Amino acid sequence: MVEKNLDFRSDTVTKPTPEMREASYKAVLGDDVYGDDPEVNELERVGAEIFGKEAGLFVTSGTMGNAVAVLAHTQRGDEIILEKKSHIYVNEVGGLAVMGQLMSRTIDGIKGHMDPADIQAAVRVDNIHFPPTTLLCIENTHNSAGGIALTVDQMKSYRDVANANNLGVHLDGARVFNAAVALGVDVKDIAKHVDTVQLCLSKGLAAPVGSLVVGPQDIIDKARKYRKMLGGGMRQAGIIAAPGIIAVTEMVDRLAEDHANAKVLAEGLSKIGIKVVNEVQTNMVYVDFSPIGWTAEDWNKACADLGWKSRGRGTGTRLVTHYGIEEEDIRGFLEGIAKLV
Ligand SMILES: Cc1ncc(COP(=O)(O)O)c(C=O)c1O
Repeated sequence: MVEKNLDFRSDTVTKPTPEMREASYKAVLGDDVYGDDPEVNELERVGAEIFGKEAGLFVTSGTMGNAVAVLAHTQRGDEIILEKKSHIYVNEVGGLAVMGQLMSRTIDGIKGHMDPADIQAAVRVDNIHFPPTTLLCIENTHNSAGGIALTVDQMKSYRDVANANNLGVHLDGARVFNAAVALGVDVKDIAKHVDTVQLCLSKGLAAPVGSLVVGPQDIIDKARKYRKMLGGGMRQAGIIAAPGIIAVTEMVDRLAEDHANAKVLAEGLSKIGIKVVNEVQTNMVYVDFSPIGWTAEDWNKACADLGWKSRGRGTGTRLVTHYGIEEEDIRGFLEGIAKLV
């Protein structure tokens, strides 16, 4: 029986499954800073294997995962290329500048996709006046573009331009499993075009805490050291790593339900007159409720009256489907909204 979680704000709100809670309880623990925690070691091993990479690193959050990966790829004063609305650039508190002393060069994507020609044009030539460009960051699925899944061909095109310019490639794959499920490909097919991947365990995969960074051994070794520097060396972390193992081994196929539910939600809202502004490919529906004359306050109150959490801002909001929301819940929500409209 799935515990209900009627909350559209994000898939970060997901709560662990009963099996995950049981796994935490039974976890055999050790001190992970000494490399002694069997659950963490297994999570890092299995995570790396699933992505076809040499090594893995368990970190506290997606933000920490991106930070340690980017730090491991770069040196102070380098320039890195990112999509203009990417989470790393917009939503990670400027950590690139603060911790890495990095310059950010942004590119306007179309539905989260950067044109490789724009990437090529953004790479600095060798000139005494310029910082060296050393890293390309990609986001898949792309959150603010609407949960868009960048295709394997697009990933390859990034790799090609990166290789031509000797750049490392880091993937913010907070929701990379959503991308793989939506595209119907193995996540390895996406990951093979990048050096490092940060993947969140605590979003649609429903683990309570944490992310993994996977990649080549030497980069993961450096990232491990940065994790320690940032205070992310956890001790008996197996208690949170054990649910992570279930997340990556058992919770991936289920994401297809979230994607199907997002489509039901989008179609239902459109019928009611609420505008869906993104192409719904995965678990996100971005809406504009101004066509029905509602403000954010009207929306938030309607949702609260129906027993749902949602956070309207201005004339719209993002609705995210996830573990704890089932199709019948969505249909009930749509009926409720239709009546209020
Ligand atoms: C694309 C993307 N990257 C990174 C993160 C950061 O993850 P965390 O909240 O675990 O720091 C998020 C969080 O929502 C995200 O959407």
